[in-house]
Amino acid sequence: MIKYYVDQEECIGCSLCAELAPEVFKMDGDKAVGVADDGNNAEEACDSCPVNAIHKSEV
Ligand code: F3S
Repeated sequence: MIKYYVDQEECIGCSLCAELAPEVFKMDGDKAVGVADDGNNAEEACDSCPVNAIHKSEV
């Protein structure tokens, strides 16, 4: 299983990830947070982040 996490220092709050994969990422104020481990479009969202703030690890 892949676990995604948003680096709070790097995230600029563009919210693209939450739009592409709302089941995996949610906005918490002006930052995104990961709320689930895996999801349909999480990979695309991960790749789409303009500042590469989304990191993943195999768990
Ligand atoms: Fe932040 Fe990147 Fe999502 S900047 S809001 S983690 S697409």
